Amino acid sequence: VQRSLVLVKPDGVRRGLSGEILRRIEAKGYTLTAVELRTATTEILAEHYAEHEGKPFYGPLVEFMLSGPVLAVVIEGQRCIEGFRSLAGATDPTLAAPGTIRGDLGRDWGLAVQQNLVHGSDSEESAAREIGIWFPGL
Ligand code: GTP
Ligand code: MG
Repeated sequence: VQRSLVLVKPDGVRRGLSGEILRRIEAKGYTLTAVELRTATTEILAEHYAEHEGKPFYGPLVEFMLSGPVLAVVIEGQRCIEGFRSLAGATDPTLAAPGTIRGDLGRDWGLAVQQNLVHGSDSEESAAREIGIWFPGL
C-alpha cells in the first residue's frame, strides 16, 4: 500500500478549507496516517522544494509557504500518490478540472506564485523523501 505526503498550503488553511480537503481524501477511501498543523521553516522548504531551486517562482513560493501554517498530512491507500494528484487537479487552478480540489476551490489571484491549496507527492521516491522531511521517524 502506498503513502503520500499531502500539504494543505497556507491559502487553504487561511480560507478554512482544511476540513473540506480532508473530507475529500477520506471520501475517496484513503486513510489519514498523520495530520499536523505546522509552520514551515526555510530549511524544511529548501529540502521540500529542492527540485525548483533557481526557478523564477522559487522565492515567491517559499515566501508564500511561510505566510501561515500548513496542514501536513500523510495519507495511505492503494495508488494514493496518483490518486491524490488526480483529486488535486492541475497545478494552475484556472485550468484544473471541475470536480478537483483546485478546480472547485482554487483561485488565480494574479500573483507571482500559483496559490493552489494543496501539495501532493508526485512519485514513490518523492513520497518517501517528503515524508522523511515532514515526519522524520514515520
Ligand atoms: P505541488 O503538489 O505543490 O508540488 O504542485 P505541482 O506538483 O502541481 O507543481 P510543481 O511541483 O511543478 O510546483 C510546485 C509549486 O510551485 C506549485 O504548486 C505552484 O505553487 C508553484 N508553481 C509551479 N509552477 C509554477 C509556474 O509556472 N508559475 C507559478 N507562478 N507558480 C508555479
Ligand atoms: Mg510538485
